[in-house]
Amino acid sequence: MTDQKKPDQATSSEKPWGGRFSEPTDAFVERFTASVGFDQRLYHHDITGSIAHATMLAEVGVLTVEERDSIIDGLSGVKEDIEAGRFEWSVSLEDVHMNIEAQLTKRIGITGKKLHTGRSRNDQVATDIRLYLRDEIDVIAEELRRLQTGLLDLAEREADTIMPGFTHLQTAQPVTFGHHLLAWYEMLVRDAERLQDCRKRVNVMPLGAAALAGTTYPIDRAMTARLLGFDRPTENSLDSVSDRDFAIEFCGFAALLMTHLSRFSEELVLWASAQFDFIDLPDRFCTGSSIMPQKKNPDVPELVRGKTGRVNGHLISLLTLMKSQPLAYNKDNQEDKEPLFDTVDTVKGCLKAYADMVPAIRAKAENMRVAAKRGFSTATDLADYLVKKGMPFRDAHEVVGKAVAFGVAEARDLSDMTLEELKRFSDTIGEDVFDVLTLEGSVQARDHLGGTAPNQVRDAVARARKL
Ligand code: ARG
Repeated sequence: MTDQKKPDQATSSEKPWGGRFSEPTDAFVERFTASVGFDQRLYHHDITGSIAHATMLAEVGVLTVEERDSIIDGLSGVKEDIEAGRFEWSVSLEDVHMNIEAQLTKRIGITGKKLHTGRSRNDQVATDIRLYLRDEIDVIAEELRRLQTGLLDLAEREADTIMPGFTHLQTAQPVTFGHHLLAWYEMLVRDAERLQDCRKRVNVMPLGAAALAGTTYPIDRAMTARLLGFDRPTENSLDSVSDRDFAIEFCGFAALLMTHLSRFSEELVLWASAQFDFIDLPDRFCTGSSIMPQKKNPDVPELVRGKTGRVNGHLISLLTLMKSQPLAYNKDNQEDKEPLFDTVDTVKGCLKAYADMVPAIRAKAENMRVAAKRGFSTATDLADYLVKKGMPFRDAHEVVGKAVAFGVAEARDLSDMTLEELKRFSDTIGEDVFDVLTLEGSVQARDHLGGTAPNQVRDAVARARKL
């Protein structure tokens, strides 16, 4: 050995693609173009994909059974090394795919170099991401279900609890706390549906597209798809290696889910404040202040609200990444991973925090009730009462408006006025008016599908549990 390597040796010995190069990669460029720092998290799915590929190649006669077995053995060993922390990732081997292949070849010799027959990193990486995302979708779906179940339990427990319902964050009409929680639940139902819909388009197999045009080997794509649990192989090789719609769709799902969680968070933060004081969040989901001893901050909801920003950002990153890309694979696509991985991690973390926290939310029913009584929340009920006695709605609105103005001046709720006082605004008002002016009367009267009445809440919970 001399110190002076011929240039082509310097590259071709190191890089699996080094054959046509006459000088080594610039050291900075090597680091700049490498993805191994973040795509090593795909190792498990990369190996699973390779085992299926080798199995198929042996089935169609491209590999011998001995070669296949040696490859599968070797890959299993590589996986053990990675999981035991014995694997040394090399930046000069660029990405997870070439790192694993190089290690395989080190273990089993020349047969390792046959694994890549009939495929390219382009279809390989597209397959790996889909396998990875499919697994993560299933984990996320489970966490989502756990949160939904927690909301249903809490809604049932709080079916009779009355709180002010808001529009414009001004007291509007009384609602039950259970009903409010079921509004959150409905948002998550749509998220769960979107996730399953996205999964259908994740679960198709690009392997076999090779670099872009397919391969000259007699591959059996249906077999590989079956082995990997994909619904079917993709239809077009050019589309297969370049398509990242499924990742964008997933981030679209995630952005909407996070938008919903941020809305829940905003309400929890408000409700936990001394000004609202509607709920108690258990200490284990809050933190204190290093200077103000009295503080108990709702950090978990605040942080979830804040993390919505990065997930929305990742959706825009991926849309922008794919915009204007010509067919087929472009190195740009390597930039799909970090936004996708961070979206998965963020969504999983936020869902776990919420699924753990929701069952522990304690409603302060008395405070909610007092707040519901403030702000003339049963004014619409009085107007409806007058309409039922034959008054046109616009006139009833006017009458009640005057009664409210009187109440504002006197600082008294409608239900605290005497019958004589109420009669000053309309003599159609009788003793039975107090049935509708109470908070209970108000919520119980909204007794139809989708209404806030406690028994509707209980029915809705029962229906949701059946699904
Ligand atoms: N690391 C690459 C990526 O993430 C793998 C595919 C590379 N293909 C290529 N032709 N350079 O997209």
